[in-house]
Amino acid sequence: MHPQELAQLFDHVPQANWNGELLPLTEVRVSVLDRAFLFGDAIYEVMRLYGGRAFLREDHLQRLQRNLEKMAFPAEAAVIAARMDDTIAASGVQEGMIYVQVTRGVAVRTHRFPEPAPEPNVLIYVSRFSDPYTTLRSQGVPVITVPDLRWKRCDIKSVNLLANCMAAQQAHEAGCPEALLVNEQGELIEGSRTSLFGVRDGEILTAPLGPNILPGITRRFLMQLADDCQLSLAEQTLHASKLNLVDELFLTGTTTEILPIIAVNNIPIGNGTVGPVTQRLLQAYQERVEAFRKQPV
Ligand code: PDD
Repeated sequence: MHPQELAQLFDHVPQANWNGELLPLTEVRVSVLDRAFLFGDAIYEVMRLYGGRAFLREDHLQRLQRNLEKMAFPAEAAVIAARMDDTIAASGVQEGMIYVQVTRGVAVRTHRFPEPAPEPNVLIYVSRFSDPYTTLRSQGVPVITVPDLRWKRCDIKSVNLLANCMAAQQAHEAGCPEALLVNEQGELIEGSRTSLFGVRDGEILTAPLGPNILPGITRRFLMQLADDCQLSLAEQTLHASKLNLVDELFLTGTTTEILPIIAVNNIPIGNGTVGPVTQRLLQAYQERVEAFRKQPV
């Protein structure tokens, strides 16, 4: 596709950084031999920008560093962090998101990791973000459950997201913004692109971390918020067959922030409205974002 045609896909062309070079996203070129293209051999991060700065930046960078190590990519999160700052500054974006993807790089196609290791390709781009969830956050949303078809290392934030995309599409076709992934034991693990929380008898519950789940940065932040609000929280997996015992349900994620769930598979959760614990957390989240916006640089 020609850069001009590509540019028409956007209402604005995001500012990109390709291996340290600043350029419009539509002008980035990558080899078809990049292992991300051939094997999905890449990891990524998504951060939210409020007031021109990345929210929970250090937590995201730590997860990026851990993923680089899990994948044995010879790249450093600190180097990527400096490029992120350059890209944000060049974009001038205040309300936005930043996407970071690191691939194993370009090599002749072979399944095992190439030796010597190629230079990883690092893509960063910053785009404006107009929050699509504002109304949904106050009303709550319906979701569906779908079988969790993902691989067994969902703790790695890899771009292998086909099962997630299929789940999201199924939800979309059912008129829902998200799908909850259920394993063979009937346990609710997380959403296709969000972490899941429940509230039962005043206690907040969320599945413990492990190889089957992404360690969400917003999940961790929510735990701190719960603590600040003196709400009790336990790492306990929710069960699809026991949703009738749950008073509230909500999702968290970088761009989603907190999104209340009011029905699962057309069955109302609690009394089918946004519950008091979720409302308290939504308010606390907004307060923290506002405080972040006002923080001196
Ligand atoms: N999704 N679970 C999955 C499977 C995810 O893909 C995500 C993030 C989350 C929430 O993680 P965090 O709080 O760190 O954003 C949970 C990103 C935003 C995405 O793929 O666009």
